[in-house]
Amino acid sequence: MAQWMRKKQPALPDPDEETQQEPTQTELVQENVAPGSPMSPNVETEPDEAGPLLRVSGVERSFQVGGLPLHVLKGINLELQPRRLVMLRGRSGSGKTTLLNLIGGLDQPTKGEIVFREHPFHRMGDDARTNVRRRELGFIFQTFALMPLLSAYENVELSLRMADRPRGEWKARVMECLELVGLAKRMHHRPFELSGGEQQRVAIAKAIAHRPRLLLADEPTAELDSQMSAQIMNVFQTIIQTEHVTICMTTHDPTILEVADHVYEMVDGKFIAHAEG
Ligand SMILES: Nc1ncnc2c1ncn2[C@@H]1O[C@H](COP(=O)(O)OP(=O)(O)O)[C@@H](O)[C@H]1O
Ligand SMILES: [Mg+2]
Repeated sequence: MAQWMRKKQPALPDPDEETQQEPTQTELVQENVAPGSPMSPNVETEPDEAGPLLRVSGVERSFQVGGLPLHVLKGINLELQPRRLVMLRGRSGSGKTTLLNLIGGLDQPTKGEIVFREHPFHRMGDDARTNVRRRELGFIFQTFALMPLLSAYENVELSLRMADRPRGEWKARVMECLELVGLAKRMHHRPFELSGGEQQRVAIAKAIAHRPRLLLADEPTAELDSQMSAQIMNVFQTIIQTEHVTICMTTHDPTILEVADHVYEMVDGKFIAHAEG
């Protein structure tokens, strides 16, 4: 958590940059998918993405600690395909958060490449990565990270504001996202007036409001009991169907790992094996 929050505040987005994206052909075609249909682990990849949504190749990350290099990631290769639920599993200290920070463009590798869609994160400056992050990525944290003085509604609206979405679409989109996570009737509540599970559902609504292609979640269920965790995983499966996102999350929980399309197992900065779920 501390590592995620330590990063400097994103710069303001370039007002001249195009903010609207036309729906792709595949997105239009996939509108035909029945909403709420059970998630198939074999969902076809989107042909328009021409390969993975994100590719990590030969990534290493070292930190200088007391004048000595500490090798945390030691040659990571990973691909995230569209509309998948991918999990990173591993003991505390194995490097999961460090990798998620790199995938999310919050940090850069010491060596290797990270390409998200057409964006080479390993070669981009802070401001350029920040722009991509605010428009095309969503983040969910173990401790929810909602703004304490804002209502559920205002928290979700904030991400549309930050992503520079046109004001005219805010209200409908906020309501749509709160309904998707089952919390429309709590929209005026502030975080302290919600349970942990409800707060995390607001955080999910906030993370998807601007229609990111990739959602990153660092131990999103670690603070929740098993029933609330199951609810969160249901919401994740729903939004993969309805919002066409890919979710990459870290977890220790074996029951949660069962619903993954793909699990990467990390030991001491490397993947030891990965298996289709
Ligand atoms: N900014 C940093 N500076 C020095 N060491 C770090 C930094 N970030 C992470 N580490 C070290 O990298 C290792 C992996 O940390 P982390 O990625 O948080 O693991 P995990 O999320 O799997 O628990 C730990 O030993 C941690 O202390
Ligand atoms: Mg961690």
